Amino acid sequence: MTRYAAAIIPAAGSGSRMKSSRPKQYLKLAGTPVLIHTISAFHRHADIAVIVVVVPSEWLRQTTAMVASWQQDDKVVVITGGLRRQDSVKAGVDYLITRCSTPVDTVLVHDGARPLISQELIGNCLYSAEEHGAAIAAIPVKDTLKKGGTDNRITATIDRTGLWQAQTPQAAKLSLLRQAFDRAGNRDFTDEASLLEHAGCDVHLVAGSETNIKITRPEDMILAQKIFMRHITTHPRIGHGFDAHTFCTGRDLILGGIKIDHHEGLAGHSDADVLTHALCDAILGALGKGDIGHHFPDSSAAFKDIYSITLLEKVTAVMLEDGFHIGNADITIVCQAPRLASYIDMMRQTLSKACRAADGAINIKATTTEKMGYTGRKEGIGCHAVVFLIPTQENP
Ligand code: CTP
Ligand code: MG
Repeated sequence: MTRYAAAIIPAAGSGSRMKSSRPKQYLKLAGTPVLIHTISAFHRHADIAVIVVVVPSEWLRQTTAMVASWQQDDKVVVITGGLRRQDSVKAGVDYLITRCSTPVDTVLVHDGARPLISQELIGNCLYSAEEHGAAIAAIPVKDTLKKGGTDNRITATIDRTGLWQAQTPQAAKLSLLRQAFDRAGNRDFTDEASLLEHAGCDVHLVAGSETNIKITRPEDMILAQKIFMRHITTHPRIGHGFDAHTFCTGRDLILGGIKIDHHEGLAGHSDADVLTHALCDAILGALGKGDIGHHFPDSSAAFKDIYSITLLEKVTAVMLEDGFHIGNADITIVCQAPRLASYIDMMRQTLSKACRAADGAINIKATTTEKMGYTGRKEGIGCHAVVFLIPTQENP
């Protein structure tokens, strides 16, 4: 019979050190409750079949509703915890043994207040527990350790060799965790590893992460925000841009920074380079920074008749400042006339130079609409652009 892995998320504490009006697991981190970040990390992991969230009794209804509005499936269950963390984890273990219909083999216990847990660390703890019986995430102690006596006087310096700071996930076979709880009696244990050690189990250390912080005090919330934002900028982003301009007489036709031989140009406040505008919008879109009109308003005289490649250079500076570069871009010009084939390579080179893209990273194609619609009637030109931005730090 296939047996599955479960996560127990103890989140039944009152967060007394945070001193906030509501328990810290319900505070918002980048607009989403801390606890939802934590649950979501385990929900995303393909090997986790069941998630038991353990909350204070007075928060049971609200948390159940919060989880239901976030995710409509039965993988997550919310139950009531106990006075100590270990009582809350025990409630989770009891649920898995007595009330869960999924046969569970291995359990990961992870603090609700550690929302920045990575998929990699969840996997590493799980696989280590599957292999060795029990495993925890931990980081080697970096600082020199002092023992303090009365009046803050140092009474000893402790050798840090071989010392680790315990984090969560703490993972174990459900059968071992159950036995460990049976043997715990009334003793206090601050984590599952100490409980398992007391029961005579070998617990393996898995390399944890400095960013897997437990939100404990107000300053941890600020640090978590910073880590979260950095996490966002270490992931690739996509963006889409679209622009269209009408033909008019008496202006040059500029596309992709190149002057095209044609009897009409395009109307607009700038040089009306519809292709370059679509690319600018795609880049700004990927960065989550609005659009070209917001950055370079057509009410400003500074942008009157401006060569749009200059705008692309400015957008590129924003992109580089935000820590991204172009992975690739794909651009489609929708235009009945003129024919653009002979200009495409020059446009590509001009755009690549302006947005610092590598050779071959930008693709431009032109299509007609078989005489349909406004482009088909030669009223104007439209252009779509899609970009994929890559974080520069990861791919220097
Ligand atoms: N926890 C729990 N049940 C308890 C106490 C704590 O499920 N009776 C959970 C917390 O909600 C938290 C995790 O265990 O997700 C780690 O505990 P801690 O950081 O100490 O949280 P709190 O006990 O809430 O905070 P404090 O100690 O500052 O009151
Ligand atoms: Mg506590």
